[in-house]
Amino acid sequence: MTALRIPIDIPNAPTSVVVERGAVSRLGEVLAAERVRVEGRVVVLAVDNAVHGSHGARAERALAAAGARVATVALTADERRKSMRAVEEVWSAALAAGADRGSLVVALGGGLVGDLAGFAAATYMRGIDLVQVPTTLLAMVDASIGGKTGVNLELPGGGLGKNLAGAFWQPKVTVADADTLSTLPIRELRAGLAECAKHAVIAGEDSFAALERDASALAEGDPAALDRLIPASASIKARIVSRDPFERGERAQLNLGHTFGHAIETIPELGLLHGEAVAIGMVAACRCAAAAGRLDDGTAARIEALLHALRLPTRLSTGLSTSLPSAASAADIRRRMGFDKKNDGIGGTRTLRLVLPSAIGTVEIVADAPERAVAAGLASIGAGH
Ligand SMILES: NC(=O)c1ccc[n+]([C@@H]2O[C@H](COP(=O)([O-])OP(=O)(O)OC[C@H]3O[C@@H](n4cnc5c(N)ncnc54)[C@H](O)[C@@H]3O)[C@@H](O)[C@H]2O)c1
Repeated sequence: MTALRIPIDIPNAPTSVVVERGAVSRLGEVLAAERVRVEGRVVVLAVDNAVHGSHGARAERALAAAGARVATVALTADERRKSMRAVEEVWSAALAAGADRGSLVVALGGGLVGDLAGFAAATYMRGIDLVQVPTTLLAMVDASIGGKTGVNLELPGGGLGKNLAGAFWQPKVTVADADTLSTLPIRELRAGLAECAKHAVIAGEDSFAALERDASALAEGDPAALDRLIPASASIKARIVSRDPFERGERAQLNLGHTFGHAIETIPELGLLHGEAVAIGMVAACRCAAAAGRLDDGTAARIEALLHALRLPTRLSTGLSTSLPSAASAADIRRRMGFDKKNDGIGGTRTLRLVLPSAIGTVEIVADAPERAVAAGLASIGAGH
């Protein structure tokens, strides 16, 4: 696969995504080609513990060979530890290494480490340069693009509020090296396919049909199919972000499936990955849209069939041998949905702002979805009473 470059034209913060197999082993050169100098600079390499000994070691060598003074800080990718305490660990490592305002943070890992390290870069000395080097499919096509960084907060009444504190901070460049996916567990890879399905629903028929064609190969991690998918899906995100960098309008479409998804992702007993929760959330959003008369049942079924072909869960009960936990009741999920950042008010059961599809290629932000349609969405994924 040859290198591919997707420019993202953001006012005052132009950035790009470089998609290139083997790029981590040549990271210094790849960054130099993007005008990100590392020679003589303190580079804080915030690395996901899961890839520390493998891709992390290659990145360290490549950066040191290019003349960087590398200080590595290893982080555990755990949503409960996606917190200010972990951000402080990165700040402390930066201080100990003598990092100043001219230093650089390189985030190497999945979306969780990217969000955390990105927030540390956004705030250390009021903001230093950031490079994202995603090592999960989800992070390559979604989390590492667009500059959203942040941490979770504990909710009053229990549970985690996802990404409730954070900042927009654009990376200088995102380097997506699909070779790093060779160590990623297949379940994590499939979870990333959920965000690709979301992008395809937003982008339209061509993208959606391409994903349908490749679905079974992708579900098994076929490298050629991934090489087709990663630039295509990353481009969809890049296009939306460049038109609306601060989520004042169109970018909110990317939250398709996320209001339902975030609410169920944080129920620990379900043990769902972010992408899996988004897949179930997309089903709920489609069925909610259908109940509100916005989407025909056939299209809702087609989207659900694609998620199924990608081997993603479409019901809360998937994989659970016992009955659903009480936290997975429709009322409790609805309560958690009230804490979504897109709502006008936060908390309680105030009117939701949902992202609902009305066709493949058309999704809308809906502030007045009837509660009975929300309930139909929750019922369709098997939320309990
Ligand atoms: N900033 C954004 O725009 C944005 C968008 C979507 C999701 N996110 C955030 O991203 C996170 C989810 O990202 P994710 O799906 O990448 O999950 P993740 O970062 O939690 O990584 C998933 C798991 O894979 C491991 N891992 C990562 N790369 C690996 C590799 N190459 N080999 C082996 N193991 C590897 C991690 O240690 C972790 O256990 C969530 O916190 C979510 O809120 C952010």
